[in-house]
This record gives sequence, C-alpha cells and structure tokens, in this order.
Amino acid sequence: MVSKIISDEENPISASSTKPAGEQYNKEVGDKNKSYTYAAPEKEKVKVKVKLSEEKINRIKEICELFNNDPGELINVLHQTQQAFGYLPAEVQEVIAHSLNISAAHVYGVVTFYSYFTMVPKGRFPISICTGTACYVRGAEKVLEEFKRQLKLNVGETTEDGKFSLSCLRCVGACGLAPVVLVGEKVYGRVSPDGVKAILEAYKEQ
Ligand code: FES
Repeated sequence: MVSKIISDEENPISASSTKPAGEQYNKEVGDKNKSYTYAAPEKEKVKVKVKLSEEKINRIKEICELFNNDPGELINVLHQTQQAFGYLPAEVQEVIAHSLNISAAHVYGVVTFYSYFTMVPKGRFPISICTGTACYVRGAEKVLEEFKRQLKLNVGETTEDGKFSLSCLRCVGACGLAPVVLVGEKVYGRVSPDGVKAILEAYKEQ
C-alpha cells in the first residue's frame, strides 16, 4: 500500500494512519520540489502520508540515529525533535516511527500522553505553567487563569502574532519554587496572578 507524499509547500498534515510505519522509503524528484513516496507494508493495510522536505526528513533521521534508532529512546528522540522543529506534527511522528521501527500509534500515544509534547506550533515564547501537585496547591490554577485572561488564549493555543503559546506541565522538578512558570527555557518561581503582567511585559519588545 503506497501513498503519495509531497513537499511541505503543499497542505500540511494528512497522515491517515495510526499503524506502524513502513519498511520502504522511496524518493521521487518533482519539477521544483523534492517529493517522497513512503510505502507502508502491505500487511498493515494503511495509508501513510508524509509531507516533509528532504532536509527535514534527514534531520529527523539524524536525531534518531543519535540515539541508535533505539525504540527505548523514544522520549529523548521526541524531545530533541521538538527542540529542532518546535512541535511534533503527525508527519514527523511517522518518520520517527519508521526510523525506530515502532508503530505510529505508539509514538502518537507518547506524544499525547506527555503534556510537554505538542502537535501544534508553539509561540516564539512558549509559556508553560506547572500544574503538578506542589504548584497546584500553591495557586498554579489562578496563575494559569491570569495568563489565559491576559493573553486571551486557552491552553494549547498560540497568539495570532505567533509570539506566545500556553501549555501546562506536570512537575518540572522545582517544587521549592512553586508555583512555577516557564517561558521558553527561563524559569519563574513563586509566581502569583499579580506577577503575570510583569512576566509578559518582559517579552513585549522582543
Ligand atoms: S509541582 Fe511544579 S515544580 Fe514540582
């Protein structure tokens, strides 16, 4: 079973499979853009569509190889891939599944289980509110509500200008600073709802 694959100039994600990725990877070259044919094994009876440039596919494969294509390293692979791409859309997951020789359903399950991973693009300044137990009992929910109010966003959304996105995390290991907020890699501790405005203003001119 073979599905046509196109470059990322065309429409985004259309992966229709949650089954294991195929064992064959064929390349075609179109008029202007390189394109790929990704062949899933007949026994899986699935259609897999991957819409990524050659450069991006190679980058994902490089990351997988860094971890010896070891399925046990899936979380590390996902972590590094998300760092490289900003998010983990379905077509990226398909390439990872193929490289690690595991099912796309498994990859999808891990991506959706951990709140750190996202399938949608994050803002330039991704804001993550820790809602682990220590942060929760010290008011993380009110902090989250204030971010939502000021940014006019729900969790999982990105501002129209692409600047901020909002997500929740489970314990980032800084419980002594609860409630904790991350903006990108920067950690803010003991955040109160009143402090939200100052955090956002620090990124206003950036
Ligand atoms: S619960 Fe938030 S850092 Fe541990």
